[in-house]
Amino acid sequence: MVTPELSQSKSQFSPMAKSSVRTKPSSCFSDGFLYLGAALMAFLLLWSLWSYALSHSFDPKTSAKSVADTQAHQCVQENPQVNLHYDPPDETFYDDQELSYSVEKPIKNWDEKRKEWLKHHPSFAPGARDRVVLVTGSQPKPCKNPVGDHLLLRFFKNKVDYCRIHGYDIFYNNVLLHPKMNSYWAKLPVVKAAMLAHPEAEWIWWVDSDAMFTDMEFKLPLRRYDYKKHNLIVHGWEKLIYKKKSWTALNAGVFLIRNCQWSMDFMERWSSMGPMSSEYEKWGEIQRSVFKDKLFPGSDDQSGLIYLLYKEKSLMEKIYLEGEYYFEGYWVDILPTYDNITEKYTEIEKEDGKLRRRHAEKVSEQYGVFREPHLREAGIGKDSWRRPFITHFTGCQPCSGDHNQMYVGETCWNGMVKALNFADNQVLRKYGFVHPDLLDSNTVTETSFDYPDDGPW
Ligand SMILES: *[C@@H]1O[C@H](CO)[C@@H](O)[C@H](O)[C@H]1NC(C)=O
Repeated sequence: MVTPELSQSKSQFSPMAKSSVRTKPSSCFSDGFLYLGAALMAFLLLWSLWSYALSHSFDPKTSAKSVADTQAHQCVQENPQVNLHYDPPDETFYDDQELSYSVEKPIKNWDEKRKEWLKHHPSFAPGARDRVVLVTGSQPKPCKNPVGDHLLLRFFKNKVDYCRIHGYDIFYNNVLLHPKMNSYWAKLPVVKAAMLAHPEAEWIWWVDSDAMFTDMEFKLPLRRYDYKKHNLIVHGWEKLIYKKKSWTALNAGVFLIRNCQWSMDFMERWSSMGPMSSEYEKWGEIQRSVFKDKLFPGSDDQSGLIYLLYKEKSLMEKIYLEGEYYFEGYWVDILPTYDNITEKYTEIEKEDGKLRRRHAEKVSEQYGVFREPHLREAGIGKDSWRRPFITHFTGCQPCSGDHNQMYVGETCWNGMVKALNFADNQVLRKYGFVHPDLLDSNTVTETSFDYPDDGPW
């Protein structure tokens, strides 16, 4: 019923036409109703044009166009941005019997196939360039650690919160999509399948189950990665790859990968160092011989990625090592900074009434923009007092409980609770509550009207 052009033309609506469209019922009515609706519409529209004209001089050409646009679309759906009902019978890559979602079967001409799909689903075209699907997951079985599943739930809740605030889709997978690609290799089959399942998305964003958003306002600077058409973004440092040859030169627990043929080909090379390959053992030996600080024998995805970069430096043209902000950050460095950061942010809010204004969660991004000028002096990344974007509990193993012996278990658990509540406070705020103590997950207090201006915060 709703043509895809409807969504495209929406951006051409003038603000006043939009407000009159909203007064219409959002579902499609019978013809009689439609007629009445259209008559009412036309009246409302004329009325709003007229009242607008009283206070503004307006361009008759554009307002005539708005009237025409509005009349052409008598059926307005709830979310006119994308059309979730429309899948025409035209053939696309989904109809190809040879297409395989498995990481073992390569895919060809993916860029053309994706483009073709978008052509048949034009309502997804606007905004396609910045569309992100977050993908994460955990093991199929219950966690060994008695509080493991509870922690994973909270880590997942945190990602859902971030995605809801920024309008991203999220997919949680908890089954091995390739029986041999287990533990840290399990993500590659999922990312490939997600690319095929989401041709509307430009980016797939893998975020490990033990990583969490600790700045709910920060947005990925996607333009930075478009500028030279980088296709894979990871947190890392070039000199640690080429000079130090360290297996921690980058962290493969969080990465952003462009939904394109290059990524398909790259993941094929990357996966071929994993347990599905007959040369898996050999790769473990090679990795250990190059990266002397790698202590365990098996080939792992992170060492594999660093090895590919180490051997073929020209890959840096496509792989962006993000080192400026906490694309993901080591929890041990970050944890001690939360208290001072909270204090700084509270000071900012005490100074700027705009930031204290209560608002709907849907418009949170606006308040992130309002805060930005106050953060100019904060710096970014290490030693900054900006909220760290992603805190990664590397080595804590919340699900198995087999944390690295380097850390006392309590440090890991308390650290996770503190980080989760630090993040949750940014969300709960929109719901009128706050955890006064970051180590106490059970208690919230209601925020007062002008919070945090009055009160001993
Ligand atoms: C927090 O701020 C205090 C006072 O400015 C400072 O002494 C302390 O080192 C800071 N702590 C951290 C972890 O940065």
